[in-house]
Amino acid sequence: MMHGSINVTGAEAPFYLPQGDECGLFQAASDKCLPVLLKGPTGCGKTRFVAHMAARLGRPLYTVACHDDLSAADLIGRYLLKGGETQWVDGPLTRAVREGAICYLDEVVEARKDVTVVLHPLTDDRRILPIDRTGEELSAPPDFMLVASYNPGYQNILKTLKPSTRQRFISLEFRFPRAEHEVPVVARESGLSEERVAPLVRLANKLRALKGQDLEEGVSTRLVVYAATLIAGGMSTDRAILAAMIEPLTDDPDTKGGLLDLVTAVFG
Ligand SMILES: Nc1ncnc2c1ncn2[C@@H]1O[C@H](COP(=O)(O)OP(=O)(O)OP(=O)(O)O)[C@@H](O)[C@H]1O
Ligand SMILES: [Mg+2]
Repeated sequence: MMHGSINVTGAEAPFYLPQGDECGLFQAASDKCLPVLLKGPTGCGKTRFVAHMAARLGRPLYTVACHDDLSAADLIGRYLLKGGETQWVDGPLTRAVREGAICYLDEVVEARKDVTVVLHPLTDDRRILPIDRTGEELSAPPDFMLVASYNPGYQNILKTLKPSTRQRFISLEFRFPRAEHEVPVVARESGLSEERVAPLVRLANKLRALKGQDLEEGVSTRLVVYAATLIAGGMSTDRAILAAMIEPLTDDPDTKGGLLDLVTAVFG
């Protein structure tokens, strides 16, 4: 199996509440065949945004979760043995180029160095994908769009994008939603009322303020959704917060004690 998953559209777009002009910007980039890079912390809505926009634009979406072993061949394709014969099988990037789809490379900085070599001719005005193994050279149709994301927060210095890669993308910065957006998002995702979500979001913002001092990353919207979902399912607020908003953030007992003090400050 090749990496990547397809999401055939036509169904209703997944719910996404815009935080600013990101939908318009994405649409403009798509119209002008420009690649887009999404930067932002874990669990702030990047993947949901891409799924939403792909559905709105009516394009198939190929998502590839990049990891440190992901190579150019994983994206482009390879010869596989099938019933005694070798047969070329397209990777998700090649399929997306052929079909005029959106290819979304999640956590692109994790991928191996040879991946950037593939991305360069595809993300500048050439828009070509050379497939060395078959001798083909594909020209990307206007509907093909490359989208990549990464989290600039916790990467070590070795794992940042080279300027020559970075400067091939229109970039959009994602942050955790402001409370007036996050409350309705979490309520909708979890089924918990906005009134009961509001203090969870207040707590989340207090926890986020600790980023950089005690915490590597602030609590994500995803975790707030988890907590709210547990509470909506009948779990006590204390238990849900501990399991979904405190334990996932730290393994250090002192830090955890400090975080629990914040819970008491918000919930009494
Ligand atoms: N603006 C938003 N509209 C709707 N849902 C949102 C929004 N922002 C966050 N969410 C919720 O937060 C959850 C996590 O978002 P998502 O999976 O898109 O994060 P991510 O930025 O891709 O994180 P990671 O970097 O870890 O992959 C979503 O499943 C969704 O419930
Ligand atoms: Mg994601």
